Amino acid sequence: MKAIVVGSGGREHALAWKLLRSPKVTEVVCIPGNGGTALLPNCRNVAMAETDAEGIARCALVNNISFVLVGPEQPLAQGLADALRSEEIRVFGPGKKGAQIEASKAWAKDLMAEANVPTAAAAVFTDAESALLYVQQQGAPIVVKADGLAAGKGVTVAMTLDEAISAIKAAFSGQFGAAGDRVVIEEFLTGQEVSVLAVTDSQTIRPLLPAQDHKQIGEGDTGPNTGGMGAYAPTPVMPPALLERVQKEVLEPTLKGLQDRGIDYRGVLYAGLIVTPAGDPKVIEFNCRFGDPETQAVLPLLETPLEDIVMACCEQRLASMPPFVWKNAAAACVVMAAEGYPGDYKKGLAIDGIATAEDAETVVFHAGTRLSEGELTSTGGRVLGVSAVAPDFSSALAKAYSAIDKIQFPGSYYRRDIGHRIKRHESAPDG
Ligand SMILES: Nc1ncnc2c1ncn2[C@@H]1O[C@H](COP(=O)(O)OP(=O)(O)O)[C@@H](O)[C@H]1O
Ligand SMILES: [Mg+2]
Repeated sequence: MKAIVVGSGGREHALAWKLLRSPKVTEVVCIPGNGGTALLPNCRNVAMAETDAEGIARCALVNNISFVLVGPEQPLAQGLADALRSEEIRVFGPGKKGAQIEASKAWAKDLMAEANVPTAAAAVFTDAESALLYVQQQGAPIVVKADGLAAGKGVTVAMTLDEAISAIKAAFSGQFGAAGDRVVIEEFLTGQEVSVLAVTDSQTIRPLLPAQDHKQIGEGDTGPNTGGMGAYAPTPVMPPALLERVQKEVLEPTLKGLQDRGIDYRGVLYAGLIVTPAGDPKVIEFNCRFGDPETQAVLPLLETPLEDIVMACCEQRLASMPPFVWKNAAAACVVMAAEGYPGDYKKGLAIDGIATAEDAETVVFHAGTRLSEGELTSTGGRVLGVSAVAPDFSSALAKAYSAIDKIQFPGSYYRRDIGHRIKRHESAPDG
């Protein structure tokens, strides 16, 4: 069986890596892939834009591909899956309509209200005046969100009224382009954030192991938000009983809401949740694809072949699939970034030591790298994600950090406190 993975980040490297762990998968084509997928045995990069529907369809047909797995949200939001499906190609990822659940926060809020899914109270605005009036009535803290895709930069958690006011003005002055034409203003929630990635064939939905990400660049969760600086799975913040509530209160009603809108959604539905101090899960947002870096922590624990799950979703056989099998272990992924990220940073840094860092339980996923004439260099702010599996969290973290010690590139930066929330949880289970 051959597959195409669309995208070029650590998530896509992890997806290709996991597919190729199965003897049934003989080749993965990454479009466009990165230095890590270039080095992966039986994996081949094809230089093509991830939104090039015609090119990807041709590549799928020429190579007799069993399915296309789409990593990032942008091509899904632009209708890549619809275009491929119209050529009878199996696709794991929703069409343009379903992708609105991520591409429009107002649309997602509407669906949640109709489907009775617990989420922060919110109001949607199309002009600055009424939005400003609203925050003045509500007061701070309050959260201001550009409606559309803004590469993780569209949300301001405003602790003061002044911050909320400038966020509203920025969005309506076009800082996020059309993504800011509408603004969602919502209630500020406190609690721990958990990512529940679920897979669906549009009829049945099943969660993967819950994970936690670290959004901020600085230790102790300080500084600006990033694409994600590290993750681990599973998380004690979401024990099985709570995950069961997420299934019943969030995933199933949301899938029903999609069905009620006539949407055939096959792929990942990612629920970004907050577990409130009262212990209730509430939705912060939905994504229409695998999370990055959560995928780099979740997939190393998955024993079930990924292609079986993907094929079952594409062919609407998820209900008859046996329960997914997981390693009875923990995984941690620590991201190594270029100095300066998420602000300005250098590219083209030479990377060394990956081969010595890897072992049977440790894998280095490439995020922003390229391989050219045998030289591995950086191309992005997030450069690598070092994932390790071990019987418990502290050993998985220790393993990931000791692997990091063997990897060098100039000015590399990583957070030393990945997992700090679990450590706190372990010492104060009720906290
Ligand atoms: N209602 C909220 N209360 C508190 N924090 C929030 C709320 N909504 C979002 N956040 C914070 O802002 C981050 C980004 O918001 P999110 O809706 O996930 O947007 P995106 O991922 O598209 O940038 C979240 O990970 C969370 O830390
Ligand atoms: Mg988010």
